[in-house]
Amino acid sequence: MNSRLKKLRSYPFEKLRILLSNSIIKNINEKENTINLSIGEPKHNAPTCVKEAIYKNICGLSIYPSTKGDPNLRNVISKWLEKRYEIPSLDSEKQILPVLGSREALFSFVQTIIEPNDPESIVICPNPFYQIYEGAALLAGANPYYINFNPEPEKNFSYDWEKIPEKVWIKTKLLFVCSPGNPAGNVMSLDEWKTIFKLSNKYNFIIASDECYSEIYYDESEPPLGALQAAYLLNKDNYKNLIIFSSLSKRSNLPGLRSGFVAGDSKIIEKFLLYRTYHGSAMSPVVTAASIAAWKDESHVKINRALYREKFDSVVPILEKVLPIQKPQASFYLWIKVPILDTHFTFELYRKKELLYCLAVFLLIIQIAKTIYE
Ligand SMILES: Cc1ncc(COP(=O)(O)O)c(C=O)c1O
Repeated sequence: MNSRLKKLRSYPFEKLRILLSNSIIKNINEKENTINLSIGEPKHNAPTCVKEAIYKNICGLSIYPSTKGDPNLRNVISKWLEKRYEIPSLDSEKQILPVLGSREALFSFVQTIIEPNDPESIVICPNPFYQIYEGAALLAGANPYYINFNPEPEKNFSYDWEKIPEKVWIKTKLLFVCSPGNPAGNVMSLDEWKTIFKLSNKYNFIIASDECYSEIYYDESEPPLGALQAAYLLNKDNYKNLIIFSSLSKRSNLPGLRSGFVAGDSKIIEKFLLYRTYHGSAMSPVVTAASIAAWKDESHVKINRALYREKFDSVVPILEKVLPIQKPQASFYLWIKVPILDTHFTFELYRKKELLYCLAVFLLIIQIAKTIYE
């Protein structure tokens, strides 16, 4: 058995399940119409154009797909990137690769990058972070190094990259960044990108930019800056050592489709494709047709943003009366500073709700008893 498996930590949703395992509330969730705020799963509808594309192309189930992906899809993605980030068109043969959602790509990417015989390799993870970064690094035999974000919203949850010691940079093979960030929704500035690109040039590490929340933002006139766009604006040579990870899961409410792409440095994409040929994650023609329909259409994405805007406008005024919160720059999370330990806070919320529920049941029983005896 792979001894590295022992290094994996339990997933946050598993921790939450254990924390609340004795609560009766979880059993009445549906009846109570409570909103599940645990897993970040979109609750808006999948776009009609995507469903239609699936019906029309269902015969694709009989075909073995290629790992490199359909050229038509790669072209559509290239056009999308060009328009969204105002950058010159990427070479869809060499600089773009469809993947089955960003999660599997983030994982398999680390396995491609990390030299298995080097016990010293470091993978830098922003903290707090999407746990796949850490698990992928550990299973590849690398050592995760965590850089905490500045917890103050005034500092935009940014990172003090200069505080990472030189001895760490020297061993760094890969740096993860997530912008818009999970969980704070912060967007990295051009200045921050400048610092990271400079460090990557100096220490020759690869940057994996997780951008799965790039299309959930609140000011239509100010879409979040992306890594390719920053690289273009800063004259970075051909996206050297840079790969972005994008996804339809949040943009188009399609987490069940499993569709995304990676784009950037062609030399890295070539090796990643080689790895994936054996890894075996080619996109089905049905998912490909659905993805083409989704990337070509922006109207459902605008509607999606409007729905999130409405939700934030409803919930922020309620919560800000009791907790210090602010609307995120992008993404669909509210990262709230709670006055006590977060696990304790969650547990107490459930306990209070439980007490109210028990009280309601008790009053109902008295009411029924009274009706019977009267
Ligand atoms: C930061 C971050 N990256 C990547 C993913 C993976 O998304 P998907 O695999 O659906 O593209 C998620 C999912 O919630 C996420 O929060």
